[in-house]
Amino acid sequence: MENNTLRINGQRLRESLETMAQIGATPGGGVQRLTLSDEDKQARDLFVKWLKELDLEITIDEMGNIFGRRPGKNNNLAPVMSGSHVDSQPKGGRFDGILGVMGPLEVLHTLHENNIETERPMVIVDWTNEEGSRFAPAMVSSGVWSGALERDWAYDRTDLAGNRFEDELIRIGYKGAEPCKAFPLHAYYEYHIEQGPMLEMEGKTIGAPKGILCLHWYDIYLDGTANQVGPTPMEGRNDALCAAAEMILAVNDLPERMGGNMVATVGEIQNYPNSRNIIPDKVHFTVDIRSWDDDLALAAWDKVQQDFVKIAEQRGCPIRCEETWRVNHQPFDQRLVERVLQSADMLGYSNLKMVSGAGHDASYVNHVAPTAMIFVPSIGGRSHVEVEATTWEDCEAGGNVLLHAMMESANESD
Ligand code: GLV
Ligand code: MN
Ligand code: MN
Repeated sequence: MENNTLRINGQRLRESLETMAQIGATPGGGVQRLTLSDEDKQARDLFVKWLKELDLEITIDEMGNIFGRRPGKNNNLAPVMSGSHVDSQPKGGRFDGILGVMGPLEVLHTLHENNIETERPMVIVDWTNEEGSRFAPAMVSSGVWSGALERDWAYDRTDLAGNRFEDELIRIGYKGAEPCKAFPLHAYYEYHIEQGPMLEMEGKTIGAPKGILCLHWYDIYLDGTANQVGPTPMEGRNDALCAAAEMILAVNDLPERMGGNMVATVGEIQNYPNSRNIIPDKVHFTVDIRSWDDDLALAAWDKVQQDFVKIAEQRGCPIRCEETWRVNHQPFDQRLVERVLQSADMLGYSNLKMVSGAGHDASYVNHVAPTAMIFVPSIGGRSHVEVEATTWEDCEAGGNVLLHAMMESANESD
């Protein structure tokens, strides 16, 4: 039976978020918990301790994904799962990812202290390396879990210092024994901050994305000719950084030139040897293209790649372009999206159907199980920055929507 009067403990949710925010806290008020770093390990250790306090059955798989299982009345039925990630961007915020782990933890706490049993088991998950900023690509472990990415390929990803993903996973003690493989799920809900301005602009408390944009990642490598900047005339230089500069502006102009609904960004660049008095002879930069329309995103890449080749020729800088990662746009399960909106209505929270421009593990889980997300507003639409914030009231509201959506799914017999 659904208990409509049940609510999570907003104060306890706040305390768990504030405690987690101390791990990797940055002077600017954010957190830096890069994936598989010492800070990631500390956050995982605390998470596992909290799972134990709730008597959950803990499993760690070979990608380091951490699952905590609460039995149901009928453990032959597929569980309802919710989770997100404890890793963060460099100089990231205190809500991205961790809200989606502390939210379901609070849901399970609420059920535990009220002695509420659900028909189906419930599972909470922390996915390894959602962010993809230390080891590209993002969402890699839900990707392996869903069968979309290869485990050994993921293990061989390296960071800028040349550390391998698998070695770092072992170093922090989170390479588990369980195969990283999807198991049957009745429903997956991911609770997250919006990371954009829509909810705030519309004055709504809860967002239910109908799905997630496609994400296409590319890596570009340019060669130039290094030389002393003083004696070398401007004519005839092969300056790899100048070539990159023109290319970056071409990426920025791309959405307008395509005349469609998309975004395109260069967010990362390495310049070598990176000395003010040497003409750069090597540059690496990244391209991120997102749209609801997969074909438009691909056409945009074709166009900009042609620009790149032209610029590289003009500047005499050989170029290599690699496709690092591609996830098609993901429409969520309509029934679950409606359930999120209905739970918000039942609880008296204003709500909005929208799309997610940010990538989430829900994108890969959606390949193998009915999936939906719950968004709460980001103040000023800011995210992936230290000032990222959401009001405690909104965190609590989203937690209540998660509680009721999960309970309803977990009490379904089929
Ligand atoms: C994940 O953080 C993304 O890039 O959207
Ligand atoms: Mn996130
Ligand atoms: Mn993020």
